[in-house]
Amino acid sequence: MAQVGFENVLGVVETTSVSCPVGRIIAIEDGRLIVGGLSQFAAMGDLVRIQTPDGFARGEIVRIDDQKIAVLPDVPLEGLGIGVRVALLGAAKLAPDDTWIGRVIDPYGEPLDNKPLLPGTMPRRLTGKPLNPTTRRGLGTRLETGLCVFNTLLPIVRGQRLGLFAGSGVGKSTIMAMLAQRISADVVVIAMVGERGREVREFVERVLGPQGMARTVIVAATSDRSAALRRRCALAAMTVAEHFRDQGKQVLLLADSITRLADAHREIAVSGGESASLRGYPPTTASMITTLCERAGPGEGQMGDITAIFTVLVAGSDMEEPVADILRGVLDGHVVLDRRIAERGRFPAIDVLRSVSRALPLAATEAENKLIAEARRMLGAYERAELMIQSGLYAAGSDAAIDAAIIAWPKLDQFVAQRETQNSEASFASLAQCFDAKSKGTQKGNGDAALATMAQNQ
Ligand SMILES: Nc1ncnc2c1ncn2[C@@H]1O[C@H](COP(=O)(O)OP(=O)(O)OP(=O)(O)O)[C@@H](O)[C@H]1O
Ligand SMILES: [Mg+2]
Repeated sequence: MAQVGFENVLGVVETTSVSCPVGRIIAIEDGRLIVGGLSQFAAMGDLVRIQTPDGFARGEIVRIDDQKIAVLPDVPLEGLGIGVRVALLGAAKLAPDDTWIGRVIDPYGEPLDNKPLLPGTMPRRLTGKPLNPTTRRGLGTRLETGLCVFNTLLPIVRGQRLGLFAGSGVGKSTIMAMLAQRISADVVVIAMVGERGREVREFVERVLGPQGMARTVIVAATSDRSAALRRRCALAAMTVAEHFRDQGKQVLLLADSITRLADAHREIAVSGGESASLRGYPPTTASMITTLCERAGPGEGQMGDITAIFTVLVAGSDMEEPVADILRGVLDGHVVLDRRIAERGRFPAIDVLRSVSRALPLAATEAENKLIAEARRMLGAYERAELMIQSGLYAAGSDAAIDAAIIAWPKLDQFVAQRETQNSEASFASLAQCFDAKSKGTQKGNGDAALATMAQNQ
């Protein structure tokens, strides 16, 4: 153990530059520092160290011309003035270490839990490249998620990238927490981008607890942190995930939320001079999001896989909203949460019909696929007739498919809500029971009873 610590310290010494170019602030405008003397050395996205009245702060280079650079600092501008020293640190890097498991860190790899943290021995650029698509594996085997609906109707496989789309407060973070605790994975890496400060603490202490944290690394940049730091949070989490994947581990990466990441990117890009055009977002937003997502996915050779779940905030479940639209193009599936379902108290509020896992049909056996298709058919038939059923216009017996759907629907609805499960076999067995005429749903609104009442009334 002592040796690991020593190697880590040596790593820090080896990667620390003995000298770095230094410039000075020549102007402060539009929330940016204009710095002279660094143009010849700087690259876009490089980090700088700014001398402040309290010590130092970091910033990110957002614009370069032949005379000066523009820097977006991580701290408010108060106390900074002309002539302040700005040192160039170079590209943003992170050296993840196995000892980071169980810890909460910031995007610089510094601890947020008031305990000492050592960096690893191999610094990685935050802007890593996706693996070559021709050499990486295809999607892997089905994962045990511990949740019925994800074990059956919406299976998650190794290396899959899923989007979780929902309005605010419909249950995105809760689903992520449930998966973080239960899904089969060696390491879980969670990016908390722009969350409220108390949410991070609550998540660590109450939601995940010591058991969940035992295999988890959390990278957090709360909503009060700068846009540059918030954007770097997602990149840092991906870099940590890649560290474990390269060791052959199965990694689950959860990023909450891509919308806040896109908002941070917009803030940075606009202050670098880009104009917002893609329905409110600058054009580079699409490449930023797709490059990040492409870094997740199946590995190659001896590597493990990064299975990733990205949350997206969609107002009024509008899937055409720009961030949702960009993300959907690179995902292997999407899960849509519906506020109306949450409002009637059914959690997780997954709208199964509008959610798709592209791991199907390969992720399930022929018999399992038949059950899934049957469940979707029933839910679809019920949804098409729902208005008529609820307004009393549907006459029982007039359509056999709708009659069957009315009986199965309460059981299916309860099945989606039924959270914990031992394994996929048990989950499929309880899905099969939804179509078993002898097994009755226990929820209010039992379908058989509804049909009987309907028939009596007509
Ligand atoms: N599975 C669940 N079981 C019971 N209640 C739930 C469940 N999921 C969500 N809720 C309720 O919905 C509330 C909001 O959930 P959550 O914080 O997960 O939503 P969110 O979509 O992440 O919200 P935000 O957009 O603010 O990040 C919870 O405080 C809880 O009351
Ligand atoms: Mg949330």
